[in-house]
Amino acid sequence: MAIDAEERERLLAALLAGRFPDGDGRFGPYGGQYIPETLMPAVRRLADGVRDLLPSAAFQARLAEELATWVGRPTALTHAPGLSARWGADVWLKREDLAHTGAHKINNAIGQALLAEALGARRIVAETGAGQHGVAAAAACARVGLPCVVYMGEVDTERQAPNVERMRRLGAEVVPVTSGDRTLRAAIDEAIRDWVADPQGTYYLLGSAIGPHPYPYLVRELQSVIGREARAQMQERVGRPQAVFACVGGGSNAIGLFHAFLADREVALVGVEAGGKGAALGQNAATIHGGRPGVLHGNYSLLLYDDDGLIQETHSVSAGLDYPGVGPEHALLKLVGRVDYVTATDTEALDALDECCVAEGILPALESAHALAGAKRYAAAHPGTRLLIGMSGRGDKDMPILSRYARRERADDAAA
Ligand SMILES: Cc1ncc(COP(=O)(O)O)c(C=O)c1O
Repeated sequence: MAIDAEERERLLAALLAGRFPDGDGRFGPYGGQYIPETLMPAVRRLADGVRDLLPSAAFQARLAEELATWVGRPTALTHAPGLSARWGADVWLKREDLAHTGAHKINNAIGQALLAEALGARRIVAETGAGQHGVAAAAACARVGLPCVVYMGEVDTERQAPNVERMRRLGAEVVPVTSGDRTLRAAIDEAIRDWVADPQGTYYLLGSAIGPHPYPYLVRELQSVIGREARAQMQERVGRPQAVFACVGGGSNAIGLFHAFLADREVALVGVEAGGKGAALGQNAATIHGGRPGVLHGNYSLLLYDDDGLIQETHSVSAGLDYPGVGPEHALLKLVGRVDYVTATDTEALDALDECCVAEGILPALESAHALAGAKRYAAAHPGTRLLIGMSGRGDKDMPILSRYARRERADDAAA
């Protein structure tokens, strides 16, 4: 989609003035509600609940208490002297890997679980890719006392096996999805199907800033705590970052980190997508980089599809980035040019993961390693800059795949 300079400025001004999503749940041309009639009552009920409950003092107080005493917020801001020396930059890490259950996903999961409880839901369904959202949802449901069913693509149950066991231990039922691409996209399809069957009693706890309105807004609001904390922590320690990096799957950790910095026009914001094995369609999950406008899972955004309109199967070494769509707010941020979106290949991410382990004593999630790889490349082109990187999660869940991709096998695997 191309727009002229005047339209771009108009959209950017509206964005910075906080006017998105608008009354129709749109972020400029993107977003909205593209759902079957049967789902409309459930989505309307949720939108009303979000409008009335989310800003209420009682809900915010309950959420703040859970974030502080159960999630473990604020998460640390860590200076990274080892990476700084290697890259010739001043590197800072926002440590969502230290949050309860090991990733940023918990911020959204506990917020929505509290919302579901307040709306009178009797059970919760969720989808998961890397398993981090599934684990977060299972933990949050246990915390509020609601039964939880997690749909997970069969491929992901294999590559993220430790998280399947964790979800079950936390009391969730994990349903492997064998249809479609057997990854995140198919898992979302199944969760929506379940929700449609009982929209009154079932709450769909969606894990990223995607889906029909109000989800992209709701998830952004619940994840914005990352950027609010990081901006204040940076200010207190060293001042503003010059560039901020986050990996982009559906886009929740990235929008959560970027949101507080949008109005700081001098701060470069960089989203890093999964470049997978290469640039060809089907070899990566770089939706913003290679996608075109279309509808998936209830919203109009950028998508990876072929010339016949068929949604493409994606590839990424990281399950959490392996999705052919992206949240509508990111599509708008790309359109107005406020965020740069770049890619990091599987190999670059694996190398960045290794480097972070030995330089900082931190094992990042494979998803977060993409943000590190993007930051490393930026540092090479902009020596001496102060960089803030969103460490969206920890890499313990990735041990099975990391053993497979042991250093010397990498080149062969990437070529396979
Ligand atoms: C650690 C981690 N980071 C990032 C992501 C990508 O999701 P999102 O783009 O919604 O932040 C995932 C998804 O599972 C994840 O587990």
